[in-house]
Amino acid sequence: MPRTATLILFCLPLLASFSVCFSANIFSLRKKNSDRLLSSAVFSLKGNVYPLGYYSVSINIGKGDEAFEFDIDSGSDLTWVQCDAPCTGCTKPRGQLYKPNNNALTCFEPLCASLHLTADQQCSADEQCQYEIEYADHGSSLGVLVNDHFPLKLTNGSLAAPRIAFGCGYDHKYSVPNPPPPTAGVLGLGNGEVSIISQLSNMGIVRNVVGHCLSEQGGFLFFGDELIPSSGVAWTSMSSESIENHYSSGPAEVYFGGKAAGIKGLTLVFDSGSSYTYFTSQVYDSVLALVRDDLRGKPLEDAPEDKSLPICWRGSQPFKSLRDVKNYFRPLALHFTKTKNAQIQLPPESYLIVTKYGNVCFGILNGTEVGLGDLNIIGDVSLQDKMVIYDNERRKIGWFSTSCNKFQKEGQSFCEPEGPLSILSGNYYEYIPKIF
Ligand SMILES: *[C@@H]1O[C@H](CO)[C@@H](O)[C@H](O)[C@H]1NC(C)=O
Ligand SMILES: *[C@@H]1O[C@H](CO)[C@@H](O)[C@H](O)[C@H]1NC(C)=O
Repeated sequence: MPRTATLILFCLPLLASFSVCFSANIFSLRKKNSDRLLSSAVFSLKGNVYPLGYYSVSINIGKGDEAFEFDIDSGSDLTWVQCDAPCTGCTKPRGQLYKPNNNALTCFEPLCASLHLTADQQCSADEQCQYEIEYADHGSSLGVLVNDHFPLKLTNGSLAAPRIAFGCGYDHKYSVPNPPPPTAGVLGLGNGEVSIISQLSNMGIVRNVVGHCLSEQGGFLFFGDELIPSSGVAWTSMSSESIENHYSSGPAEVYFGGKAAGIKGLTLVFDSGSSYTYFTSQVYDSVLALVRDDLRGKPLEDAPEDKSLPICWRGSQPFKSLRDVKNYFRPLALHFTKTKNAQIQLPPESYLIVTKYGNVCFGILNGTEVGLGDLNIIGDVSLQDKMVIYDNERRKIGWFSTSCNKFQKEGQSFCEPEGPLSILSGNYYEYIPKIF
């Protein structure tokens, strides 16, 4: 079975407006050494943890200017888009589906073989390359791999239009009763052979490095290594026994309020496809107990009537934002015990949300409850306001705290058009690797 992910949805209403403008002087490109001739590509992201529950990128495919909205998912490899073929479960109107043009890969192509883990896959001449990706909640996408141009504006000013293989999906299942996500597909940021970053780096367009910077207003995504500062980044090794091609690291130890909490040996998966953070039942129970104990004597009460997330608290007045409530909570941190000075700080903003009812909810969820087995998942809520870098060449994961609203490339700036985006019903979406 190919990479897998989970889609978990909770019903939340939503109306949000985005304005993504990369303009302030936060980042500047690393000086080019003569040995770094490769460029990078940067994309702005839309989305938020709450109420939307996902981050998406708009990418053009083909020679026209047809743009598709993809969920970004560092927890899986395969990129797919809803296909204009007789389609079951396509949610977009026909005019917004990707139109294949006799560009299916045959099953002889090496990329096709990389999708199928069993060697005894039968392959006859002219047969199209089928894929099927299954998500842990039994949602799935089935289709064929096709090959088309992905026009990219590179940071060195050049335009590239590499032919990338991706899935044209014509049979999608969503876990009932969850409504389907509003995006047209998934952009797999993993490091398997079929992922877009592996393909781009094999073509010599960018280094095999991908990163994201998520904020309340969206943020940005990049391919290539040019945005990585030369200092200030905490790096840890990717686990060699990495489950499938997920970005995982560890072992890590939990700190609460600056003190070791006696919770050790965590393997962590970095998953931009997951809205929230998940700990295994044991870790979850301990961390929740620490947070609850610490709330004693503070003016917060359980708010079980707020179903936004499993654990919520109300104050004497409704909270407008995390600013109103974060002082009641202590920071968490994850220390990578085998790497010096590598710790992920999780200030209250990285594990709490304020709901539309004015309550504050715990953004760390019980992974055992949703069948995640031994995995601990660092999801979007905890990845916000950090640049997170997956360096597949050095097999390292890096991060540093920063504001992700802005990106600047040497004096230039680029802005996305401003405007409200409203969707009638909202949810949160989780693309989480499934365990076997
Ligand atoms: C920009 O980088 C790409 C490779 O990443 C290279 O092919 C292209 O020639 C470069 N363009 C300029 C103007 O240097
Ligand atoms: C987490 O989930 C497991 C499995 O469903 C359950 O046994 C455990 O009680 C849950 N923990 C909490 C604190 O709810």
